Amino acid sequence: MASVTFDHVSKRFSGGTLAVKDFSLDVKDTEFMVLVGPSGCGKSTCLRMLAGLEEISDGEIRIGDRVVNEVPPRDRDIAMVFQSYALYPHMTVFDNLAFGLRMRGTSREDIERRVNTAAGILELGPLLKRKPRQLSGGQRQRVALGRAIVREPQAFLLDEPLSNLDAKLRVQTRIELQKQHRALHATFIYVTHDQVEAMTMGDRIAVMRDGVLQQVAPPREIYDHPANMYVAGFIGSPTMNFIPVTIQGSKAKASGFEVELPTAPGVERAVLGVRPEAMTDNLRGAAAQSASTNGQGALDMKVEVTEILGADQFVYGIVGQDSAIARVDPQLKVDPGDRLRLLLDTRRLHLFDPASGEAIL
Ligand SMILES: Nc1ncnc2c1ncn2[C@@H]1O[C@H](COP(=O)(O)OP(=O)(O)OP(=O)(O)O)[C@@H](O)[C@H]1O
Ligand SMILES: [Mg+2]
Repeated sequence: MASVTFDHVSKRFSGGTLAVKDFSLDVKDTEFMVLVGPSGCGKSTCLRMLAGLEEISDGEIRIGDRVVNEVPPRDRDIAMVFQSYALYPHMTVFDNLAFGLRMRGTSREDIERRVNTAAGILELGPLLKRKPRQLSGGQRQRVALGRAIVREPQAFLLDEPLSNLDAKLRVQTRIELQKQHRALHATFIYVTHDQVEAMTMGDRIAVMRDGVLQQVAPPREIYDHPANMYVAGFIGSPTMNFIPVTIQGSKAKASGFEVELPTAPGVERAVLGVRPEAMTDNLRGAAAQSASTNGQGALDMKVEVTEILGADQFVYGIVGQDSAIARVDPQLKVDPGDRLRLLLDTRRLHLFDPASGEAIL
């Protein structure tokens, strides 16, 4: 296994599109790194450059200590799993797994050993004689991963491998993949546009926008300390509330409430970021105490829409003149048109520069 390094990598396609801009990322040996961002932000292009399927316009890519800019794909010793599994329909699962190895002239015994090991890890043993059309979507996904495993690569590159599965199977396979990552003790670079996949699977998440890396950090840190409004808005569902405020000293004034910030940010205007769970009817523990002692952070919402999701209830409405989303007790009876008293968890507020979007606090 190996580390993977993107060192100031850019990609300009022949048509002129600058798909990846000055991209630098260190993926550690055995790390599960998730590249996440909306469609067209350059995720696949990054993977394809790493796999050698796309030339690099600028910068350097290293696998371990080896610069691979000029190394042909088959000599890079990495395996890629695509969204379309591209299994050979006329071949059995065994032959699908063995095909690449045969092409490389691997010995029969070695093929036998590697396929059986992969089939063991992925629980494909009973399916080895079947053809792809006799498999479920999840089983096909495992065969596609198996084809990567038998190559015993330095790193696994996975490009949206779950997007063809239905919601339930996607959750199952997501957990499977994490187990497999641990069992293989391998470097995984996983591309998705789904922030839930990113949050749940990644040791670290790299958030991209328009070919530019925005932030790289473990999921918790990305969620609690987003570097800018873009990351803050992309990660988390429902999305973070962004409320324009004017600042006086350490006080932030919105159209419908005011709140004491932990420090004076030294700006006049800002955007207050509040996750729905930090705008709620039932603050607990330290948060509740701090809200009640300083009498700050209480607000009224005019309720427009409510959504009960079993464990959660989200309330969409207007605070002052700003739209907002709150997460409240699912048992709370609240209807459109109601006025709802809410509290802010003042320990979990974010503040952003309105012009640059960068986090100030
Ligand atoms: N071969 C190509 N020629 C020209 N432009 C391309 C080519 N491949 C990709 N692009 C452009 O580069 C940008 C990044 O594409 P890329 O496929 O890396 O996005 P992505 O993040 O993987 O998106 P998705 O989530 O839709 O798969 C897009 O604007 C795309 O149109
Ligand atoms: Mg893609």
